[in-house]
Amino acid sequence: MAGETPTAEFPFRKKRYDEAAMTALAAALAGVIEVPLVIYLHGDLGAGKTTLTRALIQALGHAGRVKSPTYGLLEHYDIPGISVLHLDLYRIGDPGELEFLGIEDLIDRNTLLLVEWPERGGDQLPAADLTIHFEHAGEARDLTWRPHTPPGESTCQALVDLMQ
Ligand SMILES: Nc1ncnc2c1ncn2[C@@H]1O[C@H](COP(=O)(O)OP(=O)(O)OP(=O)(O)O)[C@@H](O)[C@H]1O
Ligand SMILES: [Mg+2]
Repeated sequence: MAGETPTAEFPFRKKRYDEAAMTALAAALAGVIEVPLVIYLHGDLGAGKTTLTRALIQALGHAGRVKSPTYGLLEHYDIPGISVLHLDLYRIGDPGELEFLGIEDLIDRNTLLLVEWPERGGDQLPAADLTIHFEHAGEARDLTWRPHTPPGESTCQALVDLMQ
């Protein structure tokens, strides 16, 4: 309605996104992200968590490779103004291993923390501002974005505004 600011309904869902659509969404996210921010990426093996993360990190300005941190647990990207930590806890034996990684010491006010398989981190992880759930939908994927904090909500709102 004229004069009214529309408010997005959360969570918001994106149905049947192929890889190109997901890459475009990641680029849009890169344009609205404000650090610090913690994003948990939930979904089965092959659901698209690394694909979205890779597109996001490249859209943020990283020119090199973005590899899946499945074996090393952690990859770190220093982009001007933003420090990206990409964690993949699929192969973690025990949440206590996170202590040895020393992620608490790596996190500062410029950090974007992206976590695959966050449920394996127990209470050793910083709380999520935003969770994204990935589900297989035929050849494509369904995505559900759920904010948990005011920064998570403003990120979702900015993204929704951008897509309108
Ligand atoms: N939206 C999409 N539509 C179709 N295929 C996709 C989509 N997103 C990713 N894929 C493909 O699915 C495969 C697995 O993707 P990806 O590695 O991102 O999954 P993942 O969730 O990180 O899995 P894991 O839990 O093993 O780390 C890749 O071959 C990728 O190209
Ligand atoms: Mg992955």
